[in-house]
Amino acid sequence: MSRVFVTHQLPGERLPLLAQQCDLSIWEQPGLLSAQGLRAGLAGCQGLVCLLTDRIDAQLLNAMPQLEFVSSMSVGVDHIDVEALTRRGIPLGHTPGVLVDTTADTAFALMLAAARRVAEADRYVRAGNWRLDNAWAPDFFVGKDVSGATLGIIGLGAIGQAIARRAAGFNMRIIAWNRSPMQVPGVEMVALEELLQSSDFVSVNVALTPTTRGLLDAQRISMLKPGVVLVNTARGGIVDEAALAQALDTGQVYAAGVDVFAQEPVAMDNPLLAHPRVVLAPHIGSATELTRARMANIAVDNALAALSGEPMPFCANPQVYR
Ligand code: GLV
Repeated sequence: MSRVFVTHQLPGERLPLLAQQCDLSIWEQPGLLSAQGLRAGLAGCQGLVCLLTDRIDAQLLNAMPQLEFVSSMSVGVDHIDVEALTRRGIPLGHTPGVLVDTTADTAFALMLAAARRVAEADRYVRAGNWRLDNAWAPDFFVGKDVSGATLGIIGLGAIGQAIARRAAGFNMRIIAWNRSPMQVPGVEMVALEELLQSSDFVSVNVALTPTTRGLLDAQRISMLKPGVVLVNTARGGIVDEAALAQALDTGQVYAAGVDVFAQEPVAMDNPLLAHPRVVLAPHIGSATELTRARMANIAVDNALAALSGEPMPFCANPQVYR
């Protein structure tokens, strides 16, 4: 019987099915599994079901000659050396689709919260600063209008398109840049430079790959329209955090909503944490009960397919089947 290691207890109802098909072991402890824990748990296993917090690099893979499949409960696969897997003909499962609307909702929540200073206002009230001598005035907690503004979407995949649908309801002008040209009703495709220069709001929605790492570097951030609100629900590593913090300090960037960081959990000395106009979230783009259960179910279904010698329903490196 194949041995499969699961790096976290999963929601959804399908894990017991996997237990019937293989010799399953699950890391049950709270918190993140360490690299050593992953290595020890995976030793001798043919299958791995992992999270985006598990680093599956070439060194780990080299130590696992028996490995036959990997299934990640995530749409992004930047935590995995996909090329190394593909070279060995190992299929990699992921969970696209089911998290699209949930993640688009998160992007919109951060955009509205950053533009209208919701987190800052919440802290203000809780701190007892809302007093008769310090209260409603014409300029009290004024922010930026989302309605009617121009939204620039960097990466018009499924999540970018779902954000565009929401933006249409806010009567926004929607422009987008995508690596490969696309046609989406209501969205005007533009060059990246034009998007940076003319958007009042920018939403980052590309996957993290060697090409998109550092896409919004200091130079591109300096091209942003003064007063812009930037939202990143894609991956840290795409936006230069130090350059963004500096642009917030100078006021070029008015506010930001940041759900993803180059290092997660984020370090307490990350400059973005010090800025009052940054709305922070701990990588919760897809975090609803229903969506996480659906993601887990797909991750299990990908593993079940691999165990029965079938192609995974959602494979990130389908070339292994050719
Ligand atoms: C979330 O970031 C995911 O990749 O699923």
